[in-house]
Amino acid sequence: VTASSTASFTMDHERAGRYTVRIVPEALNRPELDAVLDGRRSLVVVSPTVERLYAPALDALAARNGPRMRRIVCVSGEPAKGLAAVERICDAALAAGMDRHGVFVAVGGGVCSDLVTMAASLVRRGVRCVRIPTTLVAQIDAAIGAKGAVNFAGRKSSLGCFHPPALVLADPVLLRTLPLPEIRAGLAEIIKIALVSDAPLFELLERVVPELLATRFQEPADDATTVMAASIRRMLEALDGNLFEDRSYRRTVDAGHTFSPKLEAAARFTIRHGEAVAVDLALSATLAARLGFLATGTSERIRRLIATAGLPITSDDLTAELCRDALAEAVRHRGGRLNLPLFDAVGHARFVDTSQVVDQVLELALEDLRLPLAEDQRVGVS
Ligand SMILES: NC(=O)c1ccc[n+]([C@@H]2O[C@H](COP(=O)([O-])OP(=O)(O)OC[C@H]3O[C@@H](n4cnc5c(N)ncnc54)[C@H](O)[C@@H]3O)[C@@H](O)[C@H]2O)c1
Ligand SMILES: [Zn+2]
Repeated sequence: VTASSTASFTMDHERAGRYTVRIVPEALNRPELDAVLDGRRSLVVVSPTVERLYAPALDALAARNGPRMRRIVCVSGEPAKGLAAVERICDAALAAGMDRHGVFVAVGGGVCSDLVTMAASLVRRGVRCVRIPTTLVAQIDAAIGAKGAVNFAGRKSSLGCFHPPALVLADPVLLRTLPLPEIRAGLAEIIKIALVSDAPLFELLERVVPELLATRFQEPADDATTVMAASIRRMLEALDGNLFEDRSYRRTVDAGHTFSPKLEAAARFTIRHGEAVAVDLALSATLAARLGFLATGTSERIRRLIATAGLPITSDDLTAELCRDALAEAVRHRGGRLNLPLFDAVGHARFVDTSQVVDQVLELALEDLRLPLAEDQRVGVS
């Protein structure tokens, strides 16, 4: 990963080739986008809310590109992220006469990006895909890696592909219309990446999270860009070298994603993914403290930041039994070893190899989670 400015990162990968993720204003009206389109047939796929909110900018893009560009609205919502939705997108692409040189443009959240990436990997055995993510989660996570997926046979993202994007343009201004729970969901992933790889990012978050949340990442604008740039850079660095997930089971980006899937399932998806990740991170902090490699004060500081972001730090569904199930599942998924990413300091990950190690302190760590945080302590002071 190389940074060509404070807001532009290029992933250079032996198999994926090269793609750039840029933080830009007016993502729908950019020369970089025009350069990829360059007279080719294209299909813009938009999520319904984004079509409703940003029709003028989408229409202007259409007007600049003429009849070679078509636009369709895709489905929204996690339950609709299935093969049928991918088929509809492929149908529209073929009806539009898309050839091998065609380009998809995905404008929406992670659901839209996942669906379009799948379609782009299938049409003519793979055409280019530009992603213009419109949620915070998509801008710093879902839309910047190589993967696309659909839910299948009742399992989340169980069919998928590796199909790296041609270009990703993240426009923070698009976040101003995002509902607050979606901002919080993005913050959970940002806190995760800060915890495993970026102490200065964590410290910046401690200072600015309340305002970033209140203004939906519009103010302070410089800090919003700094937070996004750091998150994107660290996420790309974490993916780099293992973009196709064939090199290692030790993935720092798995932090916050060990206990959270079971928690989401136990709550029958009434808890949001980001909230479950937040609880998982809080438990990871108390576990790390009980294992003796994270200072108790730091564990408290981590939980405080999560709470300041309006995210939960515990849940009634988080039982020792659920945690043990989750650990067993993680071992199955991570090559027969636990490979649990924890943190031994803010900004630094460390892996735990076996469930037995976690087991010994699990009950205590769960109890710690239920202790109230001291109220008069300011964020950032530990
Ligand atoms: N491929 C990957 O590597 C990867 C990684 C992480 C997550 N994901 C996937 O991403 C999905 C989650 O993405 P998400 O959190 O973006 O959810 P999402 O795509 O469902 O979007 C959330 C909601 O925000 C609305 N929305 C989008 N942009 C908006 C805007 N600018 N203003 C107002 N409303 C807007 C959408 O219509 C939707 O209702 C999941 O399906 C997950 O599996 C994929
Ligand atoms: Zn996640």
